[in-house]
Amino acid sequence: MGPFFTPSPIHSDLPLETQLHLGDCLDVLPRLPAGSQDVVVTSPPYNLGIDYRSYDDTSSRTDFLDWCRRWAAQVRRVLADDGSFFLNVGAAPSNPLLPHQVVLALTDDLFVLQNTFHWVKSITIQTRSGESISAGHFKPINSKRYVNDCHEYVFHLTKSGTVPLDRRAAGVPYQDKSNIDRWGHTGGEDRRCRGNTWFIPYDTIQSRDKERPHPATFPVALVEQCVRLHGKGRETRLLDPFLGIGSSAVAAKRMALAAFTGIELDDHYLAVARERIDSLL
Ligand SMILES: C[S@@+](CC[C@H](N)C(=O)[O-])C[C@H]1O[C@@H](n2cnc3c(N)ncnc32)[C@H](O)[C@@H]1O
Repeated sequence: MGPFFTPSPIHSDLPLETQLHLGDCLDVLPRLPAGSQDVVVTSPPYNLGIDYRSYDDTSSRTDFLDWCRRWAAQVRRVLADDGSFFLNVGAAPSNPLLPHQVVLALTDDLFVLQNTFHWVKSITIQTRSGESISAGHFKPINSKRYVNDCHEYVFHLTKSGTVPLDRRAAGVPYQDKSNIDRWGHTGGEDRRCRGNTWFIPYDTIQSRDKERPHPATFPVALVEQCVRLHGKGRETRLLDPFLGIGSSAVAAKRMALAAFTGIELDDHYLAVARERIDSLL
């Protein structure tokens, strides 16, 4: 089966204004100018007991949601009025409400939920001829109660709920090409909106320690899809306040965006992020 998302061509020859900050995003975000970011794509710790090097991922639910509101208020401040904030949150089978609690906490007065995407990591589809095709990596769980968790959420939050998007830039070709002429809104282009289910598997790796030395990353292609959908192209100024090992920075570099800002608490993860960006040179 071919790739489901065509990766961006690498534009490492074009300059990217990159700021990588080692520190707590609650200290660094207040130092960024208001309205200075077009797109934020991030995945905070989910408070599900993940074993990060520096961050303790086990606070009470109330403290965690309060903390989310504090950094999200700073994200709102630095985001342009027509900016997009893509928030990736996953759950655990025993903690299914967490993503919903986070998005409820952020939409009281801070943001409007404009779209909800399902980042599908693995899937099985049955073709019309009855053949089953599986793609992506199934992370097995041993349970009589729960099924395998094959997706995470990407909440698209904006200040107004009315931010225009470039749905076709993030779209897919028509399966039935006769639709191109049949529907006036295509403008003759072989591209339709992809919808809100995004199948983006992790890259296959040989050695987790060497190639993905972090317990909770997202794929570079997920970030690229968010940036394309926002539709500002290369002028985009991208921020990730929970940088990890820099998947969003790699996306910024590949797409030759105007500017990238990343913040990470842990020096080792930040060092890996730097190495990943430099290796694209
Ligand atoms: C889910 S991971 C992000 C992984 C990233 N998306 C990637 O693909 O590498 C969350 C990261 O946030 C970092 N972190 C936790 N608290 C932080 C804080 N207050 N400020 C900045 N980074 C923090 C953790 O060290 C962890 O690397």
